[in-house]
Amino acid sequence: MPETTHIASLSTEQKQRLRELAAFAAENSYSPYSHFRVGAALLLEDGTIVTGCNVENASYRLTSCAEQGAIARAVAQCGPAIRLRAAAVANLNGAASMPCGACRQTLTEFGDDDTLILYPAADGRAEETTLGELIPHAFRLEHLDPGDGPAQP
Ligand code: THU
Repeated sequence: MPETTHIASLSTEQKQRLRELAAFAAENSYSPYSHFRVGAALLLEDGTIVTGCNVENASYRLTSCAEQGAIARAVAQCGPAIRLRAAAVANLNGAASMPCGACRQTLTEFGDDDTLILYPAADGRAEETTLGELIPHAFRLEHLDPGDGPAQP
């Protein structure tokens, strides 16, 4: 099967809608420190769309990214078996934004190499890639299976 299956199966209108929903979610961003207003919209395999925004904290490192918020909400809303068909990220700052490293790992938990990632380039151009491109050789659940290895103390 060609690597672009998921990309091809999403229409231009669907992609545009997902980008719009991400931007809409960014309107609710809580970002009094960075003022960088981010939104994410996830398209699940069953067609459900779930959104999230970044939520910052006075203890800076406790900040939750938009993608992480959307994933938590999707699991809470739809259960632990969710699978990601696509994820759109948007910001209201006119900046480029693709998922940060931590978010790439978070998305990997529920996506695969073909999961479509929609994001804006610096000039506002609509860009797209795949999760496999963003995080090759990702650490996955199956890597935690010790198999027949020696028992741990
Ligand atoms: N941010 C996201 O929401 N998603 C990312 O993938 C990158 C960064 C947020 C975190 C923080 O609130 C702000 O953007 C600036 O880093």
